[in-house]
Amino acid sequence: PSVAKCHASLATNYTRETSEVVDLDWENLGFGLVDTDFMYVAKCGPDGNFSKGEVLPFGPIAVSPSAGVLNYGQGLFEGLKAYRKTDGSILLFRPEENASRMITGAGRMCMPAPTVEQFVDAVKQTVLANKRWVPPTGKGSLYIRPLLMGSGAVLGLAPAPEYTFIIFVSPVGNYFKEGLSPINLIVEDKFHRASPGGTGGVKTIGNYASVLKAQKIAKGKGYSDVLYLDVVHDKYLEEVSSCNIFVVKDNVISTPAIKGTILPGITRKSIIEVAQSKGFKVNYPSGRIALSVEERLVSVDELLNADEVFCTGTAVVVSPVGSITYLGKRVEYGNQGVGVVSQQLSKSLTGLQMGLVEDCMGWTVRL
Ligand code: COI
Repeated sequence: PSVAKCHASLATNYTRETSEVVDLDWENLGFGLVDTDFMYVAKCGPDGNFSKGEVLPFGPIAVSPSAGVLNYGQGLFEGLKAYRKTDGSILLFRPEENASRMITGAGRMCMPAPTVEQFVDAVKQTVLANKRWVPPTGKGSLYIRPLLMGSGAVLGLAPAPEYTFIIFVSPVGNYFKEGLSPINLIVEDKFHRASPGGTGGVKTIGNYASVLKAQKIAKGKGYSDVLYLDVVHDKYLEEVSSCNIFVVKDNVISTPAIKGTILPGITRKSIIEVAQSKGFKVNYPSGRIALSVEERLVSVDELLNADEVFCTGTAVVVSPVGSITYLGKRVEYGNQGVGVVSQQLSKSLTGLQMGLVEDCMGWTVRL
């Protein structure tokens, strides 16, 4: 058998024979890469079909210096998480949504993509091969990072002749250094993240490189991250560097509509669906109240008198916002505590993701 096949069967045997968890400092996990055992690799040539992928030892990959992804940024990524339940089983959250988003993004970036079935199967294989890296219940999650890249060599500007689909994983804790405490955002008044007709609505790697400068400046001033406005009017909320945004006012949750410049977040969509689901009501001392949801243009002025603001994303999950600074003026929410709407939506969503409540939405995939 080939070396790759040996490694693949090693991965399968490994999974079968071990159920224990690695010895890590689980209490102090942040959002940084921890090298794990295996990664998944599949390739696609000019025929547009991906090979049957292989589970290989995690490690560096060789690509030509002339690879499309290195020279012209022809690349996309995804992010999803796996949680360990107390009964030892592992839950994935809506992996087919990531697969579909990768297919849409690949179309925009002139790349072939794995089918939904190939994608989900590859995620399952990668997670099972790295099962011992899934944090114990309540200590975090296994972040799963699928990558699709133009790995073939090009010199003139053109789609690459070969593509590589990789999945690697890392155990993670909270994304922001604030942990579960509210974050402090600054509205960006110089840089923009995306423009109409561009690629802001797909998860291409370049969208993330282009926000590093604004993020670095903001972090240098003590903010957690940056909130971007639309490029045309400089007035409507778009998203934060790594997550979507929601504004709460009088039991209405509003979030910028998807219109090509905002990433269609799977956590964003799930929060909307939870908020609209039959039976979801916010528990106040005075009684239970249903929420309404609006996807629309949200003006930056609405931040001034919002009751709560929160961010959503795979990495950040649901992150309460404690303050937003815009043109030198700072607005605070919920006395730096977590607002009741953010808190209860977050609890309902994470209850599903972690398998703490029955999955009446049919969103989790059990391994
Ligand atoms: C995610 O939430 O999975 C993302 O892709 C954001 C990334 C910048 C960590």
